[in-house]
Amino acid sequence: MYNNPPKTLFVGQKLLFLPECHSTNDIAADLINTASTPEGTVVITSQQTRGRGQRGNSWHTEPGKNLTFSIILKPTFLTVNQQFLLNMAVSLAIHEFLSKYLPQNLSIKWPNDIYWHSQKMGGILIENTIQGLSLTHSIVGIGLNINQKSFTEQPRATSLKLASQPFSNEDEYDLEILLSELLIVFEKFYLLLRNGKTDSLRTYYLRNLYSYGEKRFFVSNGNQFEGTITGVDSQGRLVIEKDNKLCYFFFKEIEFVF
Ligand code: BTN
Repeated sequence: MYNNPPKTLFVGQKLLFLPECHSTNDIAADLINTASTPEGTVVITSQQTRGRGQRGNSWHTEPGKNLTFSIILKPTFLTVNQQFLLNMAVSLAIHEFLSKYLPQNLSIKWPNDIYWHSQKMGGILIENTIQGLSLTHSIVGIGLNINQKSFTEQPRATSLKLASQPFSNEDEYDLEILLSELLIVFEKFYLLLRNGKTDSLRTYYLRNLYSYGEKRFFVSNGNQFEGTITGVDSQGRLVIEKDNKLCYFFFKEIEFVF
């Protein structure tokens, strides 16, 4: 599987397919210590036995049905303070790739979940290695629900197949074709970031941000409150207007109420 390299300069030109593994992010972390691992190397599997998600959660999906992979990057041009720009570029890439199949109702839920309406279609786990003030390596772990049709453990999850069912004749999406398409868009966004197009990335990110500008409920420190997302600051904090004041939240400090 995954024998045809995508039409990219470097992303996915080296690809390691493992039918089963514990976590592609962990395999990628082992590979970055090997000098012969070039930037853009992809580790992909059909089944993760110990997939990891954000906030220390685990990531379980049905074997063989979804895209479950990690990309090794060397974003040495980013400082620690700029690391959220990588989250923006990665989530925008996935959003744009999926838009071809789902032109409407896709969004990025801060910081980097991929949503269709209010259901999660994909998640991203970025793990950075830092030296001094700069990033040396990033492992971008992506889990995208593609052909899975039932999500008993995750009540608010969906897949490309479920979301596109009404207007698609596809029996099952071809994961190899989708991966190739996604890696091409991924490289485009990564190169925009590398070429300093950060203002465009920020604008595009906000344009596609879930619940941007809408009043809704959140929970922070056990307290529920109503507020409006007005932006994301340079550190990646979510900016919420609450009682006419701007409040700033890091990832672990706030949750959306559904
Ligand atoms: C989230 O919690 O939303 C992030 C999920 C990230 C899952 C992916 S699947 C491939 C890679 N390997 C892992 O162990 N996790 C990421």
